[in-house]
Amino acid sequence: MNTPFLFGKHASSEYFTNRTDEVNQLSFNFQSLINTVIISPRRWGKSSLVLKAAEEVQKTNKNVRFCFIDMYNVRSENQFYQLLAQETMKALSSKLEEILEISKNYFTQIIPKISFSPDPASEFSISMDWEEVKKQPDEILDLAEKVAASKNIKLIICIDEFQNISTFDQPVDFQKKLRSHWQTHKNVGYCLYGSKRHMLLDVFSSHSMPFYNFGQIMFLSKISENHWIPFIIGRFAATGKEISAETAGLICTLTENHSFYVQQLAHFSWLNAEKICNPEHVTTAFETLLMQLSFLYQSVTDGLSNSQINFLEATINGEEKFSSKEIIQTYKLGTSANVIRIKQALVSKEIIEISGSDIEFLDPMYKHWLAKHYFKTSY
Ligand SMILES: Nc1ncnc2c1ncn2[C@@H]1O[C@H](COP(=O)(O)OP(=O)(O)OP(=O)(O)O)[C@@H](O)[C@H]1O
Ligand SMILES: [Mg+2]
Repeated sequence: MNTPFLFGKHASSEYFTNRTDEVNQLSFNFQSLINTVIISPRRWGKSSLVLKAAEEVQKTNKNVRFCFIDMYNVRSENQFYQLLAQETMKALSSKLEEILEISKNYFTQIIPKISFSPDPASEFSISMDWEEVKKQPDEILDLAEKVAASKNIKLIICIDEFQNISTFDQPVDFQKKLRSHWQTHKNVGYCLYGSKRHMLLDVFSSHSMPFYNFGQIMFLSKISENHWIPFIIGRFAATGKEISAETAGLICTLTENHSFYVQQLAHFSWLNAEKICNPEHVTTAFETLLMQLSFLYQSVTDGLSNSQINFLEATINGEEKFSSKEIIQTYKLGTSANVIRIKQALVSKEIIEISGSDIEFLDPMYKHWLAKHYFKTSY
C-alpha cells in the first residue's frame, strides 16, 4: 500500500491542504499582475503554494502562462540570464517553429543557439555568448514582456530561492538592472520567493535597495492544527486506517505544525499502525525520525562553536535574559557583545530566527534532538 503522505516533493492535489486565503490572494495577484514576494522559513510550503495558485489560475484563465525558475544552484548573473531566457521561451511556446521564430524576431544583438534533442517530447537548451549577454542583457530581460504583449497574453515569472541574487558579484547593480526593466512590464508579473528572511528583507524592504516596494510582501505562516488534524485523519482514512483527532494532534504538537515534518511524522506513524494509530505509534515514529536525522544534526552541531552551543542550550532551557550577568556566566557566553555575535551567527546559519525577544528554532526537530540526545534534558 502506498503512503498517503508526501514530503520532499511539492505538495499538490490530495496531498495539499488548506492555504485557501493564500491561494486566493496569490491567484488574484497573478491575474492582476501584482508582483508578489513570498517569504517563509524552509519547508513550510512556499513552492507548493505557488504551484497550487498557478494551477488554479490555469484552470480558468488560459490567457495566463507561467514560467518557473529555480535559483537553487544559480551563482552568477550569466547562469541567471541563461535560465531566464530558456525558461521564458519554454513558457511562451512548446512548438519548435515558434521557439525559433521568437529567437529570430526578438534577439538582434545576441544570437542564441538553440539545441533540440531528437525526442520531440524532451526539452531544448539554449546557449549564447554569455560575455556579450552580460554587457547587453536587455533583450533577455524584456523578452517576456515583448512576446507576451504581441501574443496578448499575461506571463507570470515565478523565481524560487530568489535570495541567491545577493551572492552574485555586484548584487546591487544587478538588482538595479532587473528592477529598471521589470518595472516597465505591463504584461508580465513577478512572483519572487525564498527562505532567507534577512536577505530577502534586505532586498525588498530597505529604502536604499532597488527592489524596495517592488510588490506585495507575503509572510507565509504555518498551517494550523485545525487544518492539519482533519487532513491527517482523512489521509489515514483514504487507506483504510484510523487515527483519532487527539493522536493526529500529537503529530502536530511534536512537529510544531512544520509542514514537512507533519507529513513525515504522519507517514512514519502510518507505517507503524496496522489499522488504528495510537499515541505510542506516533512517539515511536518520532524517535525513528530523530535517529534518522541524528547524523545530519551531529554535523550541524560540530560546525558550531562552544558558546553557540551553550546559547542554544540556554534557549532550550527557556532562558530569555541574555543580557544578564548570571545567564552569561552560567552558560559561559563571554560578554554581552559576544552574545550579539552568537545570535547573528546562529541566524545566518539559519538555526534560529529572532523577532523581538522571541528566539525560535527554524528546525523544530533539531531542537528536540539537541534537548533529548545532545543536552539530554527532560524539557
Ligand atoms: N499546503 C500543504 N499541504 C500539505 N503539505 C504541505 C503543504 N505545503 C507544504 N507541505 C509539505 O511541506 C513540504 C515542503 O513544501 P515546499 O517544498 O512547498 O516548501 P518550501 O517552503 O518551498 O521549501 P524550501 O524552503 O525547501 O524550498 C512538502 O513536501 C509537503 O510535505
Ligand atoms: Mg521551495
